[in-house]
Amino acid sequence: LLKRSFSTTPSMHIIKNITVIGGGLMGSGVAQVAAQTGHNVTLVDLNPEILKKTEESIANSLSRVSKKLYKDKPEEGEKFVRDTKGRMKIMTDANQSVKDADLVIEAIVENMEVKHKLFKGLDEAAPQKTIFVSNTSSLSIGEIASCTKRRDRFGGMHFFNPVPVMKLLEIIKTPETSEETYKELMACGKALGKVCISCKDTPGFVVNRLLVPYLSEAMHLLDRGDASPQDIDTAMKLGAGYPMGPIELADFVGHDTTLAILDSWHKKYPEIQSFKPSNVLRKLVEEKKLGRKTGEGFYKYTK
Ligand code: 3HC
Repeated sequence: LLKRSFSTTPSMHIIKNITVIGGGLMGSGVAQVAAQTGHNVTLVDLNPEILKKTEESIANSLSRVSKKLYKDKPEEGEKFVRDTKGRMKIMTDANQSVKDADLVIEAIVENMEVKHKLFKGLDEAAPQKTIFVSNTSSLSIGEIASCTKRRDRFGGMHFFNPVPVMKLLEIIKTPETSEETYKELMACGKALGKVCISCKDTPGFVVNRLLVPYLSEAMHLLDRGDASPQDIDTAMKLGAGYPMGPIELADFVGHDTTLAILDSWHKKYPEIQSFKPSNVLRKLVEEKKLGRKTGEGFYKYTK
């Protein structure tokens, strides 16, 4: 039985070349982890300015990882950083970037139309064997896949921020994802050094279905003036053992992301009160105080 559970189908190919689309918080973390674990990575963003910032944040994070892994061996640490960077290239042309890809991981803005536009082009440009996944936090994988002719080779891979640190990876199988694709994604997740769990194609999968209403409820406490941000964070850290309180965590995730998730869920499920975006959240997004990534959210951050 043990042997059977480890067997692979004969046609299964090994995922070696990974294209990551989107150079934001998640895309850069995913690209880094993929390169760190020996994959050839192409990271794509339309905006060269963002790519410059992405390279900086990857270099920064890589040096933290290497210090941890090679505490007493700085030369080996330097080699690790060099080798990892050597496996990464960056590009602005998405269609060009998928020519040799075994796997494409999309981590762009949470907007169905924009995702459809991207995937239609990629579907034409990528070889038949290429598997597509989305790192969406809140949209339906099946709906994203519906614009392609490879729904059997389409699934979800949902990572967590900071990607180099968080061990979990959610693997999403739609009713149309083939068993072979699903197995390849599970094997790839393991090769990326993550612990994988499976979830159906449902809003928020497991983590965000539980976490986002929790963050939202914390912000509703602020709307009502029930407690201060500091007291809410202290409460959940010391009273429930969370590494970060919900207000800090909302700053960390990014308010644009949380608002996009809540807006889309609130539209679909107006009866669920915790899906209703709070006033404080909307105000921060309007003021472009998106959290840690912009230097200010509920709290202020210095580098
Ligand atoms: N890259 C590399 N290493 C990093 C890193 C990064 N970006 N961020 C932190 N680290 C490392 C540090 O170097 C440090 O290593 P060390 O133990 O060797 O010193 C270790 O992680 C701990 O970091 P810090 O000492 O700076 O701080 P903390 O102990 O507070 O840990 C944290 C930071 C890991 C972010 C922790 O606070 C935490 O787990 N927070 C909760 C994060 C969370 O819940 N994420 C999920 C968000 S939801 C999401 O992403 C889904 C999306 O769809 C919305």
